[in-house]
Amino acid sequence: MEYVQPKGKVELLTFSMAKNREEREQQVLDNANKILAELEQGKNVAFATLGDAMTYSTFGYIYAIIKEKQPQLEIEIIPGVNSFTTLAAISKTILAENRESLHVIPSFKEEDVEHAVFPENSTTILLKTYRSRKALVSRLKKEKEQYPNIQIIYGEHLGLEGQKLAYSLEEIESIPETYLSMIMVKK
Ligand SMILES: C[S@@+](CC[C@H](N)C(=O)[O-])C[C@H]1O[C@@H](n2cnc3c(N)ncnc32)[C@H](O)[C@@H]1O
Repeated sequence: MEYVQPKGKVELLTFSMAKNREEREQQVLDNANKILAELEQGKNVAFATLGDAMTYSTFGYIYAIIKEKQPQLEIEIIPGVNSFTTLAAISKTILAENRESLHVIPSFKEEDVEHAVFPENSTTILLKTYRSRKALVSRLKKEKEQYPNIQIIYGEHLGLEGQKLAYSLEEIESIPETYLSMIMVKK
C-alpha cells in the first residue's frame, strides 16, 4: 500500500478467526457488503491482502460474493508472493526442483497429525501450525528418527516485523505459537 500510495480512503477490514463458522461467514459478508457499498457509489476499490490472494486467502470468499452480486464488474487480480515461497527465499532453501513434489497442507486437526504423511522426494508445507503445533512437533520427531536427513524449517512473521526462523524441532518447540507461522518439511 505504501508502494502504490493510495490517494483514497484506506479502511482496515477485520476478519474473524473464531471457531464459530457462522460468525466467520457473517463477518466476511459484512466486509463484502462494505466493498459493494463503495462500488455502488461508482468508486474503484482495491483489496490488499498478505501473501497471494488466490492461495488459501480470505479474498476468495470476498471474491465469490462480489462476483455473484455484481457479475458485470471488472476485477483485476494481481498475483502475490505467497508465504511459503517467502520462507524458501528467506531461508535460502529450494522449495522444490526436478522431480520433487510440493504439498501444501492448510491445517491439521490434532487427532489427524499422527496420520500425516511426508512422502519422499517432496516438500511439505504446513500452514496454520499454531493450532496443533505440539502434536506436529512430536510427529516430526518420530519422522526425524526414521529419516535423519529430513530438513525442517520454521518461519514466522515472514517479511514482517518480528520475522523469525528456526531449524530444529527443539527450537520450534520453545517458540510461542502464533498465527502467522508455518513449517516446511523437506524429505
Ligand atoms: C489463510 S493462510 C494465508 C496464505 C496466504 N494467502 C499465502 O499466500 O501464503 C494463513 C497461513 O499462512 C501462513 N502465513 C501467511 N503469511 C505468513 C507470514 N508472513 N509468515 C509466516 N506464515 C505466514 C501461516 O501458516 C498462516 O496461518
